[in-house]
Amino acid sequence: VGSGATNVTQQNNYVSRTKRGEILCSKGNFRGCTVWFTGFSGTGKTTISFELERYLVSHGYPAYCLDGDNIRTGLNKDLGFSEQEREENIRRVAEVAKMFADAGQVCLCSFVSPFRKDRDVARRIHKQSDLPFFEVFVDTPLEVCETRDIKGLYKKARQGMIKGFTGIDQPYEEPDTPELVVKTVDKSVEESTMEVIGLLRDNAILP
Ligand code: PPS
Ligand code: MG
Repeated sequence: VGSGATNVTQQNNYVSRTKRGEILCSKGNFRGCTVWFTGFSGTGKTTISFELERYLVSHGYPAYCLDGDNIRTGLNKDLGFSEQEREENIRRVAEVAKMFADAGQVCLCSFVSPFRKDRDVARRIHKQSDLPFFEVFVDTPLEVCETRDIKGLYKKARQGMIKGFTGIDQPYEEPDTPELVVKTVDKSVEESTMEVIGLLRDNAILP
């Protein structure tokens, strides 16, 4: 990464959030915000956020998912999984999410995002632009994720074929004060999704 640009100043768009809300959503208001899902690999972040995206869009609310696996094959394909690279991954995604939220989308981010300081950066980036940010801890025990092992990554990590795997040989720092904790064990995807819908209702993002 380079050393950054100088002589650059923020330019403000002419379109207001109120106006964006009017043209974007059949139901009127600006609802731009970011819901940030964090948790071990295999917890259900992607599944819940994709289900939530489907629910929101089918009810007439603009929503869009940014997902770790997808971002890492595109925008962030230059980044690996060291602590520094995860930090940069989350910083870039948070900046993108902020723009989606500012554009009026309910932006759903599903990233392991194992480090508290990086998630706090994502929160700060949103707060500085006066955009709601909801941290959702998808709290599935590591043993359960490892038993599911949908992608076979835990097996590889145990065999030493993947280095720096979250929960195996890299830490995961649980959120201290997330806006919501979703426990997925003995719960359907729909139930988990509805808990997040509840959060959005409680915060007046949804009526
Ligand atoms: S991070 O920590 O937020 O930067 O990671 P993220 O961008 O969410 O990418 C996680 C997905 O990459 C796969 N994968 C790994 N995860 C964790 N640790 C290591 N070392 C790793 N290597 C590859 C894995 O498919 C993750 O997706 P999910 O959906 O979480 O399982
Ligand atoms: Mg995923």
